[in-house]
Amino acid sequence: MLAGYLVVLLAQSTMISAQGPLGSFNIEPSSISVSGFSSGGFMAAQLGIAYSSLFQSGFGVFAGGPYDCARDQDNFQNCMFNATPMITQPIANVKSFGADGSIDPLTNLLDRRVYLQAGALDDVIGLSITNLLHLQLLQFTKAENVVFVTLADAGHAMPTDQDSKVEGFSPCNESISPYISNCGYDGAGAVLKWLYGNLNERNDLIEGSGSLTPFLQTGPLGAPGLADTGYIYIPETCQRRHQQQHHAAPHTDDGHFPRPRSRSPPPPRPCKLHLALHGCTMNVQTIGDLFIAHAGYNAWADTNDMIVLYPQTTTDNETYDTWSGHIANENACFDWIGQYGDSDRRLDSGGGEHMRAIVAMVRRVAGLDEEAQSGKGKDDEERLRAWGRSWDELETRQPTPQPQPRMPVSYKWWHMIVP
Ligand SMILES: *[C@@H]1O[C@H](CO)[C@@H](O)[C@H](O)[C@H]1NC(C)=O
Ligand SMILES: *[C@@H]1O[C@H](CO)[C@@H](O)[C@H](O)[C@H]1NC(C)=O
Repeated sequence: MLAGYLVVLLAQSTMISAQGPLGSFNIEPSSISVSGFSSGGFMAAQLGIAYSSLFQSGFGVFAGGPYDCARDQDNFQNCMFNATPMITQPIANVKSFGADGSIDPLTNLLDRRVYLQAGALDDVIGLSITNLLHLQLLQFTKAENVVFVTLADAGHAMPTDQDSKVEGFSPCNESISPYISNCGYDGAGAVLKWLYGNLNERNDLIEGSGSLTPFLQTGPLGAPGLADTGYIYIPETCQRRHQQQHHAAPHTDDGHFPRPRSRSPPPPRPCKLHLALHGCTMNVQTIGDLFIAHAGYNAWADTNDMIVLYPQTTTDNETYDTWSGHIANENACFDWIGQYGDSDRRLDSGGGEHMRAIVAMVRRVAGLDEEAQSGKGKDDEERLRAWGRSWDELETRQPTPQPQPRMPVSYKWWHMIVP
């Protein structure tokens, strides 16, 4: 009877858990990285540059373009297709944003590893666009840390080597939905290996054997144009931070060799964290689990103690001012055109809402934000308003002056100013 009951409980615990708040895990802080495709690729470059103190393991861009490309254009589409947008102003802007502290220190970028990939047949975000990102990055990184892979036969799609294993991918040379293709090239593996160095061989099961769990992208983790639900891939080896802490020491029935009570179990190995950003019309609402389960990341995560975070966009038919005109986000793109705030800068300088929400997710997963994780966190701006204080004031009140890189928005700052 009891045994049967336990079996039922065990069976339930291996199912995909219900959607709930995003949890915190035991993450090595220096192991955080990001990659993305198309609008997610532009976003990956934005995050990797603006929040370089957080994404210490670097970033990867599939079919994306220069940081800050869209700001000074009369039309953001100058940064698409096979155009050659002006790059001098975006380079100058990186320098001035770095100098005035509205993004993390540019010196971080010297040691960052960066992976770039473009398809020679891509007519949506063409080779010329990714070339300009490469040119821009070489101003701030060491050339040997940046790899740029071009695939001769590839269109606009996240490349995989999953020939015949997954139904519904686009042919390698095409630029059509779902924008994930069979190209005989494992893009996810290539970017992860470049960012992390030697990795264990991936799991044969491309979707992985851990759990793909939905979480709420609400409150500080929400923003216009983001869905209510995001997904997180958790391999069996990566446990929740608080489960470990709350585990009682294992007891034995063996009276001869009792465990000393004071000895706690050895801390589990910390895991890595990779943020994977889909392109426009590649959200779960549009293409189901093709990106979050089949783009190739999870198989590598499984065998390398790595959590993969998959934030999700949603169609947003409301129109917003962007850097070049008033438009809606009908294709559910991550924002690289200044649609939801200043999409290249951090929150404390009026940064983009998508970056703010995504960074809050990353910080939550990495346990860098204990208060938000306990569910008590309120929106930073709201707190500041309630206290009648400004970001400038908050920053000048930091007790330690800044020989170190400034950290992104942190609830820990808040604790410092609470009397
Ligand atoms: C892709 O390749 C197929 C087969 O060779 C061909 O029929 C098709 O026209 C190609 N598509 C593009 C966009 O080049
Ligand atoms: C946005 O508009 C499109 C077409 O105009 C429509 O099909 C879609 O349902 C709308 N989406 C939302 C979330 O309102």
